[in-house]
Amino acid sequence: MAGTPRGELICSVDDIQVKQALRVLIDDYPVVVVRDSDGGIHALGDTCSHADISLSEGEVEGCAIECWGHGSQFDLRSGAPLQLPAYEPVPVFALEIHDNDVYVDVTTVTNGAPAPQLG
Ligand code: FES
Repeated sequence: MAGTPRGELICSVDDIQVKQALRVLIDDYPVVVVRDSDGGIHALGDTCSHADISLSEGEVEGCAIECWGHGSQFDLRSGAPLQLPAYEPVPVFALEIHDNDVYVDVTTVTNGAPAPQLG
């Protein structure tokens, strides 16, 4: 992609292993950057929509991450919960890969979830 990437530089693509979840703070807002089972990289709000638990502490399987709190899984592409008790999506953020580096723009929510309140 030409031009300057949008968002914050998070890490190199090679810093995230397949099925790994990396928690980062962007403007004090917790984000989880996840590599799915096929190697795709996604950026979502790190807080489960059911309660205040970090999704980065959960297991990645396929293209979903599971919250250890009560077992809801969230689709990494859409942020949608795949089963109860969570029923609200978590925000999915614009992500660009530029020169093998990962950039996340938390001002751009791509799935219609409420935008985070940034400090
Ligand atoms: S806190 Fe995540 S499913 Fe309950």
